[in-house]
Amino acid sequence: MSGTPESVYGRTRSILITGASSGIGAALAEQLAPYGGKIALTARRAEQLEEVAQRVRQLGGVPLVLPCDVTDLAAVREASARVSAEQGAVDVAFLNAGIGDPLALPRFDAEKLRQIFAVNVFGVTNWMDALLPAMIQRGSGILAATSSLIAGRAMPGASVYAATKAAISSMLDGYRVEGRLYGLQITVVEPGFVRTPIHGDKPVSRPFMVDVDQAAQIIVEGVAEGKALIRFPWQMAAALQVLRHLPNALFDSFGRKMVRKPRD
Ligand SMILES: NC(=O)c1ccc[n+]([C@@H]2O[C@H](COP(=O)([O-])OP(=O)(O)OC[C@H]3O[C@@H](n4cnc5c(N)ncnc54)[C@H](OP(=O)(O)O)[C@@H]3O)[C@@H](O)[C@H]2O)c1
Repeated sequence: MSGTPESVYGRTRSILITGASSGIGAALAEQLAPYGGKIALTARRAEQLEEVAQRVRQLGGVPLVLPCDVTDLAAVREASARVSAEQGAVDVAFLNAGIGDPLALPRFDAEKLRQIFAVNVFGVTNWMDALLPAMIQRGSGILAATSSLIAGRAMPGASVYAATKAAISSMLDGYRVEGRLYGLQITVVEPGFVRTPIHGDKPVSRPFMVDVDQAAQIIVEGVAEGKALIRFPWQMAAALQVLRHLPNALFDSFGRKMVRKPRD
């Protein structure tokens, strides 16, 4: 399945990016555009997608703007049919749309939790539903889903978000092996902190934070190389490996420093 970026993302290739209106998705589109492929850009905000499409065009790609909510299975199936009709069956899909919400314990709300799962988990599986039949029939295709390093161990202040990412990493860990029987490459992308609007409007600094263009480059190259798992930056990946195996007593004393009781 692996190849050069030119062979994986080149002129004849049909590519899809979810969550393409900002952050990592928009940066992926810009990294991929110079290879000349046909790139379907999907998210809810059409205006932002048009801006990304314009940059893709300037950089040599052929964009298709496709406003769609990943939580709406019927709309996803319809959007997928449009991609196939307009740019050919999807060869490479970056299933990247996602939202973050700390959902602190005093704010716990099952509806809100459902919403986070709807985007981060079912947003991925809705697109898998739409794309897998044609990929399996053709015996080829690449699915790259954006999880997170936090999938390895939930951090206080991001428990529900971590649970959604653990669901993706775990499910695709199994499907990756099955996928090979059908000629599919299934890649899990687990970034650490990346500078994107998911962290809010104000500039933030987090440990070993990576610029969005650098993140997109790592993902684009890793997927082309056929990697099953893309974890970065290595410092954060190593830290998460340690945290994952830390006994609860130690983990709790570390974790307590990360959260505070709200004042009200
Ligand atoms: N930035 C980080 O530190 C970091 C670290 C690890 C993993 N990640 C993951 O990376 C992925 C991309 O996030 P980002 O950091 O690039 O954040 P971002 O800039 O906020 O991008 C999120 C994207 O998801 C789309 N999206 C949200 N809800 C959607 C819905 N219901 N239907 C369709 N699209 C929807 C947004 O577009 P619309 O609002 O236009 O719909 C946007 O394009 C996410 O899965 C995130 O969990 C990020």
